[in-house]
Amino acid sequence: MTETTDAATREQQALIDTLPTDFRWGVATAAYQIEGAVAEDGRTPSIWDTFCRVPWAIDNNDNGDVACDHYHRMPADVALVPELGADSYRFSVAWPRIQPHGRGAINEAGIGFYERLVDELLARDVTPWLTLYHWDLPQELEDAGGWPSRDTAYRFADYSMLVFDRLKDRVRHWTTLNEPWCSAMHGYVNGVMAPGRRDFAAGMQAVHHLLLGHGLATQRMREAAPPETQFGITLNMSTNDPATDSEADREAARNADGLGIRIYLDPLVHGRYPADIEADLAARGAELPVQDGDLQVISAPLDFLGVNYYFGVQLSGVDEQGRTIGQDGSPVQREVPFGEPTTAMGWEILPGKFTELLTRLGRDYPGLPIYITENGSAFDDQPDETGYVADGGRTAYLASHLAAVAQARRQGTDIRGYFAWSLLDNFEWAYGYAKRFGLIRVDYETQQRTIKQSGYFFRDTVRRVRDRQ
Ligand code: NOJ
Repeated sequence: MTETTDAATREQQALIDTLPTDFRWGVATAAYQIEGAVAEDGRTPSIWDTFCRVPWAIDNNDNGDVACDHYHRMPADVALVPELGADSYRFSVAWPRIQPHGRGAINEAGIGFYERLVDELLARDVTPWLTLYHWDLPQELEDAGGWPSRDTAYRFADYSMLVFDRLKDRVRHWTTLNEPWCSAMHGYVNGVMAPGRRDFAAGMQAVHHLLLGHGLATQRMREAAPPETQFGITLNMSTNDPATDSEADREAARNADGLGIRIYLDPLVHGRYPADIEADLAARGAELPVQDGDLQVISAPLDFLGVNYYFGVQLSGVDEQGRTIGQDGSPVQREVPFGEPTTAMGWEILPGKFTELLTRLGRDYPGLPIYITENGSAFDDQPDETGYVADGGRTAYLASHLAAVAQARRQGTDIRGYFAWSLLDNFEWAYGYAKRFGLIRVDYETQQRTIKQSGYFFRDTVRRVRDRQ
């Protein structure tokens, strides 16, 4: 079939070959990005259905109404997972399918879909990795205040328990939130993602309530958990380097690192928010609405940390006009490219920064096993007449980033597995269908799936590592 063995350099291959035979290999998706069927079996709109109706909020005015039609094609899609050599599948549950009003009793038809999905995975010997929240908040809860409201944290814990009670006999790996930074910053501060609000103070309230929701849900699920159940959270992280050694640039990098990494991991692991960030927030008239006991809840023990990495950034605290405070009154954080090639997202390809990030996490937050819950790349794929894509760029990205993971492991970081983003091309949020991350191509006209070169490279890599004696 396809020749993939020379896709990695000899050096990358040698590093990848140091991964252990019991390393976990998975592929990942998220409900709204693939399912479609947005009005079926009792599902109500989430904030993403609403946001997609805002003219030009999404490129091409795309929406998730049909997406990959996975809701109707689930068994065939599940069959593709082992074809890629993966032993694990990371998916998310759509809250508005489970509780159409964001509260109250479970919707049987909604949970039924995920029960069938889990059974299908287990029948194929694929381990399910379930994420409870991948951004699709029921619209009714947003109308009641959304994540800036403390009540949403309690609603999330209730919803989590409903799902947990029904699937805890079959699912061992539970992730509460996916990328709370995106929910808070893109959803409530920059407004580029649902619900599209632009309010820094509201965004910081969202940060705390997302973490509180995580803690409440984790505590309650753990009390009811069968032995061997594992709980974690997935954070998106990049490296944040100062563009120069100037005070302003170092300040910008510190602040980005604080708001991107430490504001989540410090309370989760150490039970406190970073003091420098609390001071930054106060200076901007914002605060984290902490109540007594919250930090104990948030720092409930974790079994693993999920890391989503795509790129690293370099920051300057000075804009092109020489200002350190932007027009909106917030401190300037200007990204300064390293000058490396980019993916179709415009993200610089920096595998070395991946290693750097992982070793830093191992150092600053020791004792927490890491799984890479997402890593991948978008490129402008050119299919041939059969639908096959020789995606050299994506394959090279995969090879260099797998080698980067292996390198961090060799340097002592406890990394246990890698999930490629994504199983399928899918709805890339504000970018709609234009950006393709799949190891498998989706032809949205026919819904045909075709494994790309990167998919075969992944499969061959997994087999070589896992099957070696
Ligand atoms: C992170 C998100 O979790 C996922 O939903 C998204 O598609 C990828 N990054 C790529 O941007």
